[in-house]
Amino acid sequence: MRYIYPQQSEVSHAQRKRSMAQEPQLVWFTGLSGSGKSTLALRLEHYLFHQGYKVYLLDGDNVRNGLNKDLGFSDQDRKENLRRVGEVAKLMLDAGLVVLCAFISPYEEERNLVKKIAGEGRVTEVFVDCALEVCEQRDTKGLYVKARSGHIPHFTSISAPYQPPSAPDMVLQTEAEPVEACVEKLVRHVEPLLRIQGLPQAVCKG
Ligand code: ADX
Repeated sequence: MRYIYPQQSEVSHAQRKRSMAQEPQLVWFTGLSGSGKSTLALRLEHYLFHQGYKVYLLDGDNVRNGLNKDLGFSDQDRKENLRRVGEVAKLMLDAGLVVLCAFISPYEEERNLVKKIAGEGRVTEVFVDCALEVCEQRDTKGLYVKARSGHIPHFTSISAPYQPPSAPDMVLQTEAEPVEACVEKLVRHVEPLLRIQGLPQAVCKG
């Protein structure tokens, strides 16, 4: 038995949205290490911020340095990593923010759990698609070399699985398209989702 009694805020979600002048949305980037998730999420965050949106990026490596520093890369820990991130993102959405999340998030089940926590209609799933060979060639953090030589256990796509999303809202192929083109596609897809219905765009942003 848990004696928990949640409080109801006296500020409504509609009031928060109006005060932020934006529709809260979660943009979830999934893909292999080195696929370009953080690069694209950082660029989108920068763009949206300078358009006047209230936006914040949660990135795997950063969150694992603080909130989730107690977690490793076993299946169970990855699940808990994403559950916590989903709950944090939900709070940020409730506060009215645009939230960007860049996590490998290798399992469909956990990505679906995040959608359930955050609310299906508020999540855009972006598959940052890049072949393992290319990610490995890039090896921006030098982790693939270490994983191949057995120094990093449970490394995604080397010794742990990655399940590509079955029905992502967007696919960005970073080995085929330059960063600029991917960012442009992202902006075209995401920005209209952030406009509050019934509020002229000029009142919203920019
Ligand atoms: S997730 O699988 O739980 O979603 P998350 O996105 O938080 O992963 O963290 C991935 C980052 O952790 C990678 O970008 C990489 O820098 C680092 N990392 C350290 N060990 C591993 C590992 N075994 N597998 C994948 N990434 C790892």
